[in-house]
Amino acid sequence: MFQKVLAGVLVAVVLAIGTLSCTGPTGPAGPAGESAEAGAVTGAMGLPGITGPQGPPGTGVAGGDAGVVLPVGCLSPCHGFNGVITQYQSSVHYSTFITNVGGDEATAWTTPGSVCGNCHAIDGVALRVAGKVGTTDGGVVEHLGNGQILYRNPPDAGVSTESTYAGGALVAKVDCTTCHAVTNANDPHKTGIPWTDGSFPFVVPSGATDVSYIEKTQPGSTTTGTVVPGLLNTTGSQGPGNACVFCHKSRKDVTTYVTASNKITSLNWGPHEGPQADVFSGMGGYSYAGKTYGQSAHQAKLQCIDCHMPPVANNSKVPDHSFAPRLSACIGCHATAVNFDVNGGQSLVRASLTELRTVLNNAGALTQTATAPYLALPASVIADPAADMTLDKARPNGAADGGATVLAADQAGALYNYFLIARGGAMGVHNTKYTQQIVYDSIVAMGASPVAIALRPQ
Ligand code: HEC
Ligand code: HEC
Ligand code: HEC
Ligand code: HEC
Ligand code: HEC
Repeated sequence: MFQKVLAGVLVAVVLAIGTLSCTGPTGPAGPAGESAEAGAVTGAMGLPGITGPQGPPGTGVAGGDAGVVLPVGCLSPCHGFNGVITQYQSSVHYSTFITNVGGDEATAWTTPGSVCGNCHAIDGVALRVAGKVGTTDGGVVEHLGNGQILYRNPPDAGVSTESTYAGGALVAKVDCTTCHAVTNANDPHKTGIPWTDGSFPFVVPSGATDVSYIEKTQPGSTTTGTVVPGLLNTTGSQGPGNACVFCHKSRKDVTTYVTASNKITSLNWGPHEGPQADVFSGMGGYSYAGKTYGQSAHQAKLQCIDCHMPPVANNSKVPDHSFAPRLSACIGCHATAVNFDVNGGQSLVRASLTELRTVLNNAGALTQTATAPYLALPASVIADPAADMTLDKARPNGAADGGATVLAADQAGALYNYFLIARGGAMGVHNTKYTQQIVYDSIVAMGASPVAIALRPQ
């Protein structure tokens, strides 16, 4: 992942130079290859020229194309220095695409009938909103247009099945058109009319009463899915951030996924990478009987885009499209914050999660190797609080390697909760109280006494 990000950053830097040279003197020779492909792909989706300033090798951008210096109307918010385009090209949404161009992922993730394209294909979200996904046996996805992807199969059974991608884009990219409904009528490249505030509408419903769903069925409920609460739990809308919820969630319904006895056969067992909405909502983890779970102060005041896309003052106040969380979004409330570890909140969660990791490892439930015989993590790795927990995988049990015994519900729930926090990346910032509660309960469920968080937060 690190290498991928690095490669992406390099490409982004090169592209930034290309974009800059639109208004400057003769630029350096434009590189060939990957970035040129990026332009072609974007063009095919109806936004020609958005990465267009990239010239062919050797011609230079401004020099070779002296006649096509962009009009001033294109600069803000998109094509200027650190405009939306440059920000976007510095994002992981873009760098991962560049890394995967021509690779197996792009094909495998976007093949019609696979489950991956619903989030990884360039048009996956638009198709979901339009009601187009694949199911079997007449299965119907509830709340499809509001982000849900799982359905009951058969309808009256407790098993949740994942709907499939119904498109054929063959482009694995979270692009402008993945989030914005760009048509001939509002695409500035087609209309020639410069951007005006609000002229880039959303693909997903994002009004004040438009809710979005994570996949968890609340225990005892007859309908699947759970609404992500909105500010002060009132409307339930994350606004434009509903788009984030469509993809950044677990893909698993923990209520039906964890059963009384769990024989783990896949290294990929547990929530998928990026289950942030499950944590942010304070509702997506495995709940222990008799416990109540709460929200942190952030839930009352903040939504995904408040921290990840703060408005950029010198860019027409359009939100930051690097999508990375920004410290500037914290200091309005945490005036003295110098990093995200406000009041040691992340360190505390990391210490507690390391405890959970140790007990799960001792129970034979974790591994980092992808091939049998599946090995438990070495003690030096487990004890390292800075270890990259996102590499951890579920250790298949009952498999040929003679792994651990089958996990009972509460223990499998602990493993599930471990992955939920480890793969979510924010170490508690997304919902401090809820994170601490589920990690605490999970350690207890594994038969140990929590040390870092000595008292369960109420
Ligand atoms: C519900 C939406 C969703 C679905 C469906 C989905 N993914 Fe993902 N996937 C994500 C998100 C969001 C991330 C980014 C997580 C992060 O980086 O925090 C991700 C990340 C990944 C990564 C790691 C990113 C990288 O490039 O290293 C891999 C690998 C991956 N997904 C594979 C798959 C595969 C294979 C499928 C189908 C079996 C699939 N995904 C289905 C949302 C989804
Ligand atoms: C992952 C989703 C996502 C992607 C990808 C994305 N945007 Fe945005 N965009 C947003 C969100 C969220 C907002 C904030 C809207 C708000 O606050 O009302 C926004 C706002 C904007 C705005 C200002 C709002 C308006 O209606 O005028 C523009 C312009 C814009 N984006 C252009 C782009 C361009 C160009 C790209 C591709 C380089 C892009 N966006 C990619 C999510 C996305
Ligand atoms: C169409 C699905 C989709 C949507 C919508 C989406 N994302 Fe992503 N996001 C992904 C995937 C997939 C990745 C992993 C990189 C990739 O493959 O693009 C990712 C990666 C990220 C990362 C980098 C994670 C890392 O590991 O470094 C951040 C941060 C992020 N997204 C934030 C957001 C925010 C904020 C929104 C809402 C404005 C959003 N995303 C909307 C699918 C999506
Ligand atoms: C209170 C501000 C805040 C809110 C609200 C918020 N985030 Fe985050 N997010 C963060 C911080 C801080 C991190 C951790 C960054 C770090 O430690 O490097 C993070 C991490 C992430 C990551 C992983 C990035 C990585 O480097 O692995 C993704 C993806 C993400 N958030 C998506 C979301 C989504 C989706 C939502 C809404 C459901 C959301 N965030 C709400 C602040 C926030
Ligand atoms: C709207 C105001 C607001 C913003 C913006 C905000 N926070 Fe907070 N945050 C709070 C409040 C209030 C608490 C609870 C503090 C308390 O109970 O003493 C809190 C608690 C925390 C905690 C738990 C540690 C503690 O003291 O309880 C962390 C970690 C944290 N915030 C990180 C962040 C980060 C990182 C950002 C920016 C990405 C951010 N916050 C943005 C208001 C905010």
